[in-house]
Amino acid sequence: MGITIINWSDRFSEQLKWTKELREYLYKKISLGLGKKKILEIGCGTGELLKEIGKKFKQELYGVDIDEERLKTAKANLKQQGIKAELKHVDFLNNNFNDQFFEVIITNYLFLWIKNLKKCFDEIYRILKEDGVLLILSEPDYGGFIEYPDSNLKEGLLFNLKKAGADPEVGRKLNQYFSQNFKVEECFCTSIPWISNVNKEELLKEIDFFSKILHDQDFNSKIMESSIKKNKYFLFMPVFSYYLRKK
Ligand SMILES: C[S@@+](CC[C@H](N)C(=O)[O-])C[C@H]1O[C@@H](n2cnc3c(N)ncnc32)[C@H](O)[C@@H]1O
Repeated sequence: MGITIINWSDRFSEQLKWTKELREYLYKKISLGLGKKKILEIGCGTGELLKEIGKKFKQELYGVDIDEERLKTAKANLKQQGIKAELKHVDFLNNNFNDQFFEVIITNYLFLWIKNLKKCFDEIYRILKEDGVLLILSEPDYGGFIEYPDSNLKEGLLFNLKKAGADPEVGRKLNQYFSQNFKVEECFCTSIPWISNVNKEELLKEIDFFSKILHDQDFNSKIMESSIKKNKYFLFMPVFSYYLRKK
């Protein structure tokens, strides 16, 4: 069994690097810095994304997370940077924000963990202002994961995420939930193939992470490691993003 000591703050900040360009593009596109906006991140985790936004823009920041420990880290994280944000320990499905309160709502790797997607989108719709923006920044679909040679990573991740209560194939399902109440301004697949010839260091780092979250019987790290070292490894993981506006 792998050791499960993970620094989630570091992990989330690593994940954010993969979609930095998309965020820069969207922040400009929605004029995030203009005027006074109330911005909510649902599932803010350790606060890495709020930190990024707080450093760039003077806006009213809010974050909610169901995990109390992560939220404590988020509070310390933002305080250390001198960033003001109202952070609440709450299950978003039972939030008590006022109707039409936010100009912008942001999520990143959230929906795979949400048990009731319809209710979640209904709540987002309720608390967004007219014409408000919903940015779904990264939502994965592990069912579309391709790995070659096969170290059983896909099966291991699917099995373990399902066991933890997540829907690893949420990426392909989201549009069914937002199509009625939100206008799609733009949609994206931000993934590029990771090949050992180009991404050797990142891939070797990922072995470490996967070994921590997966059991040995679910993942053969030796196959992955030796293929990477021989420059014969390929990995592709679809991650989708949406820029939506309340209808
Ligand atoms: C994969 S983490 C991503 C954290 C952060 N968005 C980021 O990208 O750095 C997903 C977060 O959503 C939170 N979460 C899951 N279900 C939630 C719910 N119903 N209400 C609020 N937060 C939730 C989890 O506790 C977790 O911190």
